[in-house]
Amino acid sequence: MLNVLIVFATREGQTQKIARRMAETLRALGHNVELYDADRPPDLDVSRFEAAIVGSPIHAPRGFARSIVRFVREHRDWLDRIPSAFFSVGLAVLSKTSDGRAQTLAIVDDLMKETGWRPHRVELIAGALPYSKYNFLVHGNFDLDQNGVATSQDAEVIQRLITQWGGNIVGEINVDTDFVVLGKEPAIPDRPIDPDPIAQANYERAVAEYDAYQEISAKARTYRIPILNQNRFLYLVGYYEQAKR
Ligand SMILES: Cc1cc2nc3c(=O)[nH]c(=O)nc-3n(C[C@H](O)[C@H](O)[C@H](O)COP(=O)(O)O)c2cc1C
Repeated sequence: MLNVLIVFATREGQTQKIARRMAETLRALGHNVELYDADRPPDLDVSRFEAAIVGSPIHAPRGFARSIVRFVREHRDWLDRIPSAFFSVGLAVLSKTSDGRAQTLAIVDDLMKETGWRPHRVELIAGALPYSKYNFLVHGNFDLDQNGVATSQDAEVIQRLITQWGGNIVGEINVDTDFVVLGKEPAIPDRPIDPDPIAQANYERAVAEYDAYQEISAKARTYRIPILNQNRFLYLVGYYEQAKR
């Protein structure tokens, strides 16, 4: 019977669920298990534990949770002395191509390099994206078939994917917006030289669209709302995998 510490970080709750399930399983095998959320560290005397499992979700662009990197750094010596395992939680591993696993392993590799820790075992676990809780703003130019022409139908497909999963589409960005799916920046044509009113009106509309795009992307950064570009969004919802089937 071992005293096992399971340390996790979580943003949307999935890694916590996985950590709890691991704890239940180990307890059923007769081990003493304690669970710790790395973002709410209590006074923790790690020397009581004889084995450790550490887990973190992946969130682009940062990778693993900073609290987990901190925990590993602070307790490196102890981790090196005992049997230890690391598990990552992300959606990329669901990819049917080897690319998603390779990408995830590269992020794990960065963690090992950054901390110097070499866990005895590494597991890549599939995550979840509970869309139904979230408000999405979709803005910018989308070109799903990548033929160089962005159409409003392409933006509608993105919106449909979100609503199919139970997410809400919102029309403006504010503190209640959870994600911005941001297409390409609209181009501004050259200012028309002749005084043709139609050319002038088109130009002004293009400038207004450009300004609106810049404002949304600036607000997303100010409010720290994650920005998903077309590719990242489609990748995370499994669009490419479905299209292949
Ligand atoms: C903004 C955002 C970015 C993400 N980036 C990645 C990523 O780069 N790679 C990946 O495998 N999963 C990524 N995911 C998927 C999460 O890792 C997955 O939803 C996981 O279940 C979240 O764990 P948590 O609920 O414990 O926070 C991302 C999710 C979100 C919402």
